[in-house]
Amino acid sequence: MKEEVLENVGLNNDSMFLDMTFGAGGHTKSVLDKFPGSKVYCLDRDPVAYQLACDLETEYPARVVPLLGKFSDLPVLLKSHGAKQNYFDAILFDFGCSSMQFDEGGRGFSISKEGPLDMRMDGNRLPQNPTAADVLATAEEHDLYKIFKVYGEEKKAKKIARAVVEARYLFTPLQTTKELADLISCVLVNESRTDKLDRHAHVATKIFQALRIFVNNELNEINYGILLAQRYLRIGGRLITICFHSLEDLIVKRHITGNMTDNSINVLPLQYVDNGLWHDQESIKEFTSSYWQPLHKHVLLPSDYEVETNPRSRSAKLRAAVRVS
Ligand SMILES: C[S@@+](CC[C@H](N)C(=O)[O-])C[C@H]1O[C@@H](n2cnc3c(N)ncnc32)[C@H](O)[C@@H]1O
Repeated sequence: MKEEVLENVGLNNDSMFLDMTFGAGGHTKSVLDKFPGSKVYCLDRDPVAYQLACDLETEYPARVVPLLGKFSDLPVLLKSHGAKQNYFDAILFDFGCSSMQFDEGGRGFSISKEGPLDMRMDGNRLPQNPTAADVLATAEEHDLYKIFKVYGEEKKAKKIARAVVEARYLFTPLQTTKELADLISCVLVNESRTDKLDRHAHVATKIFQALRIFVNNELNEINYGILLAQRYLRIGGRLITICFHSLEDLIVKRHITGNMTDNSINVLPLQYVDNGLWHDQESIKEFTSSYWQPLHKHVLLPSDYEVETNPRSRSAKLRAAVRVS
């Protein structure tokens, strides 16, 4: 959704832009070209993406600042570059995995490419962090169930969690993407699933999504990332987010629009709150207040042309908002 980003990013020729999800640098490059004189700070937790940002720095001297780390590492990284609060004119998040990560079987994200069940966006940069294989080999059955249910919204989460635990005793530990995909195909032998374009989808898709979100602590990172965006954007600066599934989008929406919708409590952020609690006017005001003014009433979706030429964009939802306080 490059065009939509450029239209809503509100930059000019001497702007400071922070790309929180550099990936292969597609969005960064379009900003550098469209706004000559702008400077882009490029963050990614993946060392492969970081190397690409370093290469781009030589292509656009003094205009690219590569940063290696997670959203939650941002304060430390920016401090070492002298960037302070209220520093940026726009911040972009293009959540999820990059095509580079999906397409490289060795990273373990893809069902269709055989590789080790790794799924760490950081790769081996943080070797102590557990891989997807570690999670499948060690988590309690109930925890696996919760991961599959909450992060994958998988209806058959219980059955799959049971099968994963049984497989530990029957076979060697699950090590590869193919072994996991085959196990789930056996468990869900009579299921057939389709994606948003009504095309055949592998029955293990949701489980792969769930594991990836868990291994990378993605939802907590998103939540914290948006809080940091509010800190590092100047007032009047723009926040742009591109989400690929409802769990990501609900977190962004909660930040941008506040915690209450239609006078009722938004179920996602307040799901752990006792409904019997009585809230006074002050706390209700706090729930509903927001630092953001959305630029559009509804999310922006990719054009038919983009979906046709890049089917991975089919679930993308773009939100744009201005920091108002
Ligand atoms: C969808 S891709 C971005 C693609 C990019 N906009 C482009 O045009 O090439 C998402 C990128 O964000 C990175 N990422 C995801 N979560 C992150 C986090 N919490 N901290 C830093 N980078 C993250 C991933 O490693 C991945 O490279």
